[in-house]
Amino acid sequence: MKITIGSDHGAVDLKEAVKRVLAEFDGVEVKDVGTFGTEAVDYPDIAVKVCADVTSGAADRGIVLCGTGIGISMAANKIHGIRCALCNDVYSAQMSREHNDANVLAMGGRVLGFGVAGKIVRAWLTTEFAGGRHERRVNKIMALENH
Ligand code: RB5
Repeated sequence: MKITIGSDHGAVDLKEAVKRVLAEFDGVEVKDVGTFGTEAVDYPDIAVKVCADVTSGAADRGIVLCGTGIGISMAANKIHGIRCALCNDVYSAQMSREHNDANVLAMGGRVLGFGVAGKIVRAWLTTEFAGGRHERRVNKIMALENH
């Protein structure tokens, strides 16, 4: 599985911690689109870089991080084809895959400890979409792109 990850300056340390968790998984290939320092950057620009890989098929999934996870998840969800779930707990991460087929995970670097974030990432990577009635609902979400 190919994963593109990016963060603004509010979650650079969390990005490194998430990359260490991703390295636990055989067959997971990670592309980091930055940012790499403490200089302030605008989280919508990072969302665009990560989501471009997901919508083009260059990545199977994306992970976006900012201080709270809120701004970058809002930005990601403006991009057609993206279903970004802001998850600051493990249950939401599981459900975002099982029920919502989330293709991008957002988390907040100023919200989460690395331990919880690691559990969220592991759950999000290993939970499959359940399909069935959930597929109908996800299709309805995607149809909203035409509104
Ligand atoms: C940047 O200071 C901060 O606003 C950003 O990381 C994020 O929390 C926005 O939602």
